[in-house]
Amino acid sequence: VVDAPRKHLLVVDDEPVILQILRAVLQEEPLRLTLTDSGAEALRVIEQGGVDLLLTDKNLPDVGGLQLLRAAKARDPLTEVILLTGYGSLDTALSAIEHDVFDYVLKPLNNVFDLRKKVRQALAKQEVALENRRLIAELQVRNAELADALAQARALQDELVQSEKLAGIGTLAAGVAHEISSPLFGILGLAEAIADESDLSLAQGYAREIVEYCGGIRDIVSDLSGYTRAPAADFESAVDVSRAVHDALRLIERSVPVEGVRFEVEAPPGLDVHARATELQQVFVNLLRNAVEAVRGRHAAGGGRVVLRASRLETHVIVTVADDGPGIPEGRRRLIFDPFFTTKPAGQGTGLGLNIVYRLVTKYHGSVTVGGIEGSGAVFEVRLPAAGPSRPIVA
Ligand SMILES: Nc1ncnc2c1ncn2[C@@H]1O[C@H](COP(=O)(O)OP(=O)(O)OP(=O)(O)O)[C@@H](O)[C@H]1O
Ligand SMILES: [Mg+2]
Repeated sequence: VVDAPRKHLLVVDDEPVILQILRAVLQEEPLRLTLTDSGAEALRVIEQGGVDLLLTDKNLPDVGGLQLLRAAKARDPLTEVILLTGYGSLDTALSAIEHDVFDYVLKPLNNVFDLRKKVRQALAKQEVALENRRLIAELQVRNAELADALAQARALQDELVQSEKLAGIGTLAAGVAHEISSPLFGILGLAEAIADESDLSLAQGYAREIVEYCGGIRDIVSDLSGYTRAPAADFESAVDVSRAVHDALRLIERSVPVEGVRFEVEAPPGLDVHARATELQQVFVNLLRNAVEAVRGRHAAGGGRVVLRASRLETHVIVTVADDGPGIPEGRRRLIFDPFFTTKPAGQGTGLGLNIVYRLVTKYHGSVTVGGIEGSGAVFEVRLPAAGPSRPIVA
């Protein structure tokens, strides 16, 4: 155990008798005791090392007691001072308060025990003040550390928000590119057909289709925020599912190689949902395209079937898209709706199709699930709330 450093008590009085008494009274105390009869010497001690407690005569011939007091407090405001004075007057008491003196002691020294007690009390008070100062300093350090940590956390958070935004924008841009590629290929095919077509009315029909696909592209591009926006709470017009399905099928046939793929479509008219026509079509284009890509090359083995069925089940319109491709392994089914998850070779798939399906369907308060049997095909099921006559979508 290391002893705490002893407190330094400086005693100043020009009367040798008093100084002697004070030495006798205080020398048994666990203190570092300095006694002097000279104010100038006392000032030197204060300025050189500082003291914890100054016990001084108020009236010294050279440097006055109050001047010593000021010097001691200037060096360390926590220094305590006890004044020795010859006159117990109101003046003395007042100047003690004014100068922030711990106490004063009257001469002659009649009660040395009282004096010792005052010294001990003054030092105890000073110790408490010192302890407070240490605690405050420690608090300031902790505070600064906390402020630092907070600033770092904030900066990190800003960075994360920023990079998340960037990632979101990247996904959005990739999604738009993904979604316009089908109509673009459709337009390309139609334009080539027009170039070779001598029958004007047929060429006009192709041109009208091109206009239609351009409208779709315009919708997709103009609503860049559409993929990330919160569910549409506004009224969407009622769209006939069978119309969207047949438009999607036509677009697939125009934009994706479908030789050897047999389509079976059962989508009676009159099944309406609240959605944007372009977005509903996008859902089926993505599902049909995946199905076609899954069964491609299977017709040699007697396969290559894509079956789409739409029906109403109570409050919902259900659309299933089934194929007889390889199906999806159980463990992979929860991954396929993630953005950029693909099992296709680089350059053939971006892994965005099903993510776009998922986002569009959930935006309209619907759901999409996957089933089927691994090895004999996949079945995707889309459920959307059926539209009654001009019924709003209630969020
Ligand atoms: N009908 C299906 N049969 C088998 N696997 C499928 C089928 N549909 C989707 N998958 C699996 O889900 C993955 C993700 O599909 P998704 O449509 O999101 O992306 P992608 O088709 O790989 O690429 P992209 O659609 O961007 O061109 C596919 O890579 C594939 O592994
Ligand atoms: Mg796909």
